[in-house]
Amino acid sequence: MILSIIAAAGKNDEIGKGNRLLCRLPADLKHFKEITQGHAVIMGRKTFESLPNGALPNRKNIVLSRNKELKINGADVYPALDPALIRLANEKEVFIIGGAQIYAQALPAAGKIYLTKIHAAFPEADAFFPRFDLREWREISRETFPADEKNPYPYSFIELIR
Ligand SMILES: NC(=O)c1ccc[n+]([C@@H]2O[C@H](COP(=O)([O-])OP(=O)(O)OC[C@H]3O[C@@H](n4cnc5c(N)ncnc54)[C@H](OP(=O)(O)O)[C@@H]3O)[C@@H](O)[C@H]2O)c1
Repeated sequence: MILSIIAAAGKNDEIGKGNRLLCRLPADLKHFKEITQGHAVIMGRKTFESLPNGALPNRKNIVLSRNKELKINGADVYPALDPALIRLANEKEVFIIGGAQIYAQALPAAGKIYLTKIHAAFPEADAFFPRFDLREWREISRETFPADEKNPYPYSFIELIR
């Protein structure tokens, strides 16, 4: 199984504010859906709560929470990352979809990062992608797009492996 991280981050690694995304970037939502469709996605409890329509359709939703009482419609709740990964060991690719706490814990075990770099700064951000050593990673793909009428900022879809 390959453990992949998928995230959208601003110029300064910003990923969220007030338990919401930084901006609406429909092209990135489409990209996220295309890449994660049909796979298992692992997220923190706060990120789950930020989803506008609950569990993501056509994906096995896994939520991490230390709350043993927590039950979520459409998602399996795990008390830690490792038991979730053991349960998913037979999957081809598993996606860590955030937020900041879960990215930081999963990064050491990840083999691939799908990073949408949003070419703008978000000074009001309160959640950040963890620092990582770029020298450990190799960029295998990058596509850059300008802002347009639907997407307010230019952005790049980047894929890194190690
Ligand atoms: N830009 C992006 O790509 C992107 C993607 C996803 C999320 N986000 C943003 O990120 C922000 C949320 O990130 P966050 O760091 O505040 O929260 P988070 O990582 O989504 O969730 C944190 C919660 O996960 C649970 N948790 C953390 N570590 C755990 C562990 N080892 N074992 C079991 N449970 C564990 C805890 O839940 P309990 O408190 O229930 O125990 C904790 O409160 C939001 O602004 C969201 O919009 C951005």
